[in-house]
Amino acid sequence: MKKLFVANFKMRPTSPKDAVALAKIGNRAGVVFVPPSLFLSEMRRVAKKAEFGVQNVWTENPKKGGAFTGEISVAMAKASGAKYVIVGHSERRALFNETDSVVAVKSNLVADAALTPIVCVGEQREVRMKGLESAKAFVRSQLEAALLGYRGKKLIVAYEPVWAIGTGENDQPESAAEMAQFIKAWAKDALHKNVPVLYGGSVNSKNIGAFAREKHIDGFLVGGASADPKELQTMVKVVLS
Ligand code: PGA
Repeated sequence: MKKLFVANFKMRPTSPKDAVALAKIGNRAGVVFVPPSLFLSEMRRVAKKAEFGVQNVWTENPKKGGAFTGEISVAMAKASGAKYVIVGHSERRALFNETDSVVAVKSNLVADAALTPIVCVGEQREVRMKGLESAKAFVRSQLEAALLGYRGKKLIVAYEPVWAIGTGENDQPESAAEMAQFIKAWAKDALHKNVPVLYGGSVNSKNIGAFAREKHIDGFLVGGASADPKELQTMVKVVLS
């Protein structure tokens, strides 16, 4: 199976011009751009082969929109050409109090709009220090709380150990692959679905090849490095060629 390369730009780049330049570099089938939503339409115009997603949606989706200053709805994301929505990213969990029950609501809302949620899970450093089995137990608790009531067809899970996000400290490819296998087995058993699992956490042009060799890792959710033109170009080449 071809691997998926998901570029989570977070709050970068700071101009539409730079966003369009990145769109041209990564314009390949198998690439999903998740830029700041302000830049999505402009990027789409120049990147017809890539797909798009948004980094977040609001927990409600009233037909005519509503009074939720600063938020975007899943209907708006869809109308702008997004196919995916990142749900439960660790930064949103930590900075915006997104609990597993919020993740559950959003995932179903996204699925109801026929978009695919990319649900992020991952353990904190204290948990991982106790070993991979403790990390698995923690991830299982997140999956159960967020996804046992999932009613959508398509679903992607991103395993992003919190201690590896934006720290330059990545997981070992073998451990990440073992976790990916664990998540897939859970999804098969609990949801009766084959769920692709992405790895994220300090992925860059130097380490992506080692992760890409792991057959249980179905792709990547890349933050910081994905908004760097050179890094983006190399990573996309490594993953998709
Ligand atoms: P990072 O972030 O690649 O900057 O570590 C990954 C993510 O948060 O999705």
